[in-house]
Amino acid sequence: MNSRKRDELRWMAITIATAALLFVACGGNSSPVAAPATTKAPATTAAATTTIQNEDFVATSATFVNIHKWTHVRFFYVTNALGHLDATLKVARSTVGGTYPVGTIIQLVPQEAMIKRKKGFNPAGNDWEFFFLDVTAQGAKIATRGANEVKNRFGGNCSACHMLAKPNWDFICEQTHGCAALPIGRDVIKVIQDADPRPM
Ligand code: HEC
Repeated sequence: MNSRKRDELRWMAITIATAALLFVACGGNSSPVAAPATTKAPATTAAATTTIQNEDFVATSATFVNIHKWTHVRFFYVTNALGHLDATLKVARSTVGGTYPVGTIIQLVPQEAMIKRKKGFNPAGNDWEFFFLDVTAQGAKIATRGANEVKNRFGGNCSACHMLAKPNWDFICEQTHGCAALPIGRDVIKVIQDADPRPM
């Protein structure tokens, strides 16, 4: 056998061995020797991924405090209930949009809110949960909450309006993202924002 032929055979052997290893690794526990090493690595990866995938935030009335406690971006107020404020603000301040991380809370006025829930919560609504709130000096009470059935004080369906925002804006309307305008102007909105009766 010449050396070139030997090299070819060696490469073939390596290829077959690699394929066999991959087969065993992907097959899980079929080999008692491979099992401890191969089951451990995927288990660790799976745990890390699962934590993020299952991350969710379920609001209570106590979640909703004076909107001025949150970060003011252009005309809305925003925070992240799971500590991902940097990631939330990165999307909020982006000039091209993006997808908000789970736990994001956005409000335009004290009485309405959108919260980003876990993946799968509301597939047709980009996993946003919509809220209509009763707000007094004592605090907020959740009046209605849900995926796509919640309406505002004018009887307008939150999701029906917000889904008209172009996809890169993740249901955020502002004035130029494609939604129908609210029946009130920003001058009135500003008055409603400033009138948030809850303690700072
Ligand atoms: C008639 C359509 C319409 C309806 C119905 C509506 N919104 Fe909006 N919403 C808008 C528009 C337009 C803006 C942007 C206003 C601006 O920035 O001047 C807005 C702003 C917001 C914002 C600030 C972020 C953004 O998208 O600009 C939140 C949060 C919000 N609305 C939540 C709700 C919730 C919750 C409901 C239901 C209880 C609701 N909205 C109902 C059109 C609507």
